[in-house]
Amino acid sequence: MSATRSACRTIMKAIRVTQFGAPEVMKVDTNLTVPKPTGNQILIKVSAAGVNPVDTYIRSGNYARLPVLPYTPGSDVGGVVEDVGSEVKKFKKGDRVFTVRTDTGGYGEYTLADSTLAGVLDDKLTLDQGAAIGVPYFTAYRAVVVLGNAQKGETILVHGASGAVGLACVQIAKARGLRVIGTAGTQEGLDLVTSLGADVVVNHRGDNYTQSIIEACGGSGPNLTIEMLANVNLEKDLQMAAPRGRVLIVGSRGTVEINPRLTMGKELVVRGVMLMGSTAEEWEEMHAGIRDGMSAGWLKPHIGRTYSLENAPQAHDDIINTKGATGKIIIKI
Ligand SMILES: NC(=O)c1ccc[n+]([C@@H]2O[C@H](COP(=O)([O-])OP(=O)(O)OC[C@H]3O[C@@H](n4cnc5c(N)ncnc54)[C@H](OP(=O)(O)O)[C@@H]3O)[C@@H](O)[C@H]2O)c1
Repeated sequence: MSATRSACRTIMKAIRVTQFGAPEVMKVDTNLTVPKPTGNQILIKVSAAGVNPVDTYIRSGNYARLPVLPYTPGSDVGGVVEDVGSEVKKFKKGDRVFTVRTDTGGYGEYTLADSTLAGVLDDKLTLDQGAAIGVPYFTAYRAVVVLGNAQKGETILVHGASGAVGLACVQIAKARGLRVIGTAGTQEGLDLVTSLGADVVVNHRGDNYTQSIIEACGGSGPNLTIEMLANVNLEKDLQMAAPRGRVLIVGSRGTVEINPRLTMGKELVVRGVMLMGSTAEEWEEMHAGIRDGMSAGWLKPHIGRTYSLENAPQAHDDIINTKGATGKIIIKI
């Protein structure tokens, strides 16, 4: 056993899911073996884990790709490297890191991650903020820049800007010189979206709120729309969009009927976004964009609510059922 390994604990606690179902299927297990990194993996001592809506879809069993049971949920963590596999060159013990995906689950004291899907956390950011980077910022960067092709001077509508992905979209779009309109469903959310840089905010629960968005665009509509709830909003997005506008669907929780003619007159592009569909080159591009954002200082994850590992079921219930997002939900380990 190496000197590095001998310093590491062998038993840890983590959430385990032994059957798919309601949030309560997540139980804390205090007698799990700390995994060992091999090949390209790093072992991370987790300080905080991000909670994403997809964690809840997977836990409930309603997702296309399900893990083998039992499993530990969680893909985003902020933590410190404890040990590295033999092929790892980019990281060493003691590095502060964030992940976009883990191999053994983030809701626990230690996790293994593929080092190509991890990044060094800038000194300006806390380990809690590290847990808020992975899925939200990479998804936002993919939607706004890689697939959305955002151009300086364009107007972007972030339809659902108060949540984790939405706030990341706002920061990325502002940094690239776009005019940003963000929506939220509460005053607290609207204030947060404004404080993180949006030029105009509109309440997506207000009457005729799409009219306010069109007026804020000077009558012609957004060039780019990032949509967090397409089953509710897609038709509105098509009605509002500027000629040749692009509508990027990040989130949808059901079906919707739209009139396809809305896409024809203005020659609109509607495109789906799937973070885990990224190619190796796109991962590189996204890592570079996120690194630049951290070092320039515009990438500032906002933590909304914090939970203990024991309260992970409550975190899952709240991320789906509580109206009024205020940034990222994390679990402190
Ligand atoms: N495609 C991908 O690869 C990918 C990756 C990551 C996430 N996602 C999906 O993207 C969505 C957002 O994720 P997240 O982590 O940001 O979740 P989140 O933090 O829970 O945020 C949800 C956002 O949706 C907003 N919202 C609620 N009702 C809305 C409405 N009627 N119109 C517009 N927006 C509305 C919320 O605003 P208020 O609470 O203020 O009303 C909030 O801003 C989720 O559906 C998630 O599954 C997809």
